[in-house]
Amino acid sequence: MKFHIQTWGCQMNDHDGEKLSGLLSVDGFEEVASPEEADLILLNTCSIREKAVHKVYSELGRLRAEKERRPLLVGVTGCLAQQEQAALFKRAPHIDFVLGTMALRQLPRLVAEAQAGRARVIDTGEYPDNHLFPPSVTRRHDSAKAMITITEGCNHACTYCIVPTTRGVERHRPFQDVLAEARGLVERGYREVELLGQNVNSYAGGCTFADLLERVAEIEGLEWIRFTTSHPMNFTRELAQVLVTNPKVVPFLHLPVQSGSDRILKRMLREYTVEEYLERLGYLGAARERMTLSTDFIVGFPGETDEDFEATLALLNTVGFEGSFSFVYSPRPGTPSLRLKDDLPMTVKAERLSRLQKRQTQLTRAANERFLGREIPVRVETRGPNDHGWWLGRSAEWKTIHLVTGPGRELPFGELIQAKVTVASPHFLGAEPV
Ligand code: 5AD
Ligand code: SF4
Repeated sequence: MKFHIQTWGCQMNDHDGEKLSGLLSVDGFEEVASPEEADLILLNTCSIREKAVHKVYSELGRLRAEKERRPLLVGVTGCLAQQEQAALFKRAPHIDFVLGTMALRQLPRLVAEAQAGRARVIDTGEYPDNHLFPPSVTRRHDSAKAMITITEGCNHACTYCIVPTTRGVERHRPFQDVLAEARGLVERGYREVELLGQNVNSYAGGCTFADLLERVAEIEGLEWIRFTTSHPMNFTRELAQVLVTNPKVVPFLHLPVQSGSDRILKRMLREYTVEEYLERLGYLGAARERMTLSTDFIVGFPGETDEDFEATLALLNTVGFEGSFSFVYSPRPGTPSLRLKDDLPMTVKAERLSRLQKRQTQLTRAANERFLGREIPVRVETRGPNDHGWWLGRSAEWKTIHLVTGPGRELPFGELIQAKVTVASPHFLGAEPV
């Protein structure tokens, strides 16, 4: 039996895909790169915004036609599965099984039942030990960086967000487990890990998150540690201290702010004011200058006035974020913000988004130009297409680096090399290995 997994969404979902892949591989299934070759297709879904959900339904539509032509099992996993549960079968009756985000390990059983001819197999139960997934099963796709789940779920209650529904309340993995997994990965050759949680810095698995970073950093042979994603209210002085002093923790902080208006932040139930957010960034002290800061923004939240939006632009300029992900507010089923009056025309929202993104591009360009002429460490990730003499890598700040080598020169996969930056654009840096 051959399987293919299509994953949408965040790193956590990506990593869940690696766990699902492992479960099937252990059972003797073979993973294939294209859905056409597969007897079993898993759609590992995201439901953070309506657009993400549309993509899933459109792929499901395509698979219905394919199922009419040949034998094929279709399973839906991930956040849309958890959100919609059995309602998915009504919308797409050709789905064979639905697996929730907190029941990953039930996959082999669901597949076996579907193979035996049972229709509409489903498990969206909450298994409290889901986060204790055995690392030896996980089948990693990235050979340069290994993701490690440290906490699942979220205890905040932002009014726009579907995640508390789709991922449940926080469950933390004991730090001994996390350390054992990280050590095992380094033994297998990984030099970089990324610690994952919907709210990674609220970690409470027997020590604080700052403490956990220090302990992971003690592992010999490990070079870089990153983490995603953080809530400003869980960003402590202790964590800032580790971030600026520990040489293995990359100088990069993604701290979603969402809006620059206190009025909107309150309606979002973000639990902080703009001033408090800035105070948290202040924990980084003078070291902030050599850190890369990025954030997330939502524009067009219900009730957002021109003034509120100008405040968001002002915050973007004050902090000078080097990068940001920004989105128009998308109403999600069952979230509290649905009750707020949302009468702003889409044209206005789209225009605000475009203004914000334009300004961001300028800031990113300026930030990247600061790298020109510098020699920086770059992790070699993949060979560029057709051996045209360039490779792709990543800097500690998670910038995409085009490594220009000239044809025929080999670079060591997964390793750190020094490279001199010669080109800066908003989307990547060009660099020559030294
Ligand atoms: N609409 C638009 N953007 C959203 N995000 C989360 N929920 C929504 C929503 N309903 C954005 C936030 C979050 C990022 C992962 O996605 O900015 O930080
Ligand atoms: Fe999408 Fe959020 Fe689920 Fe990640 S946790 S897959 S971003 S809905």
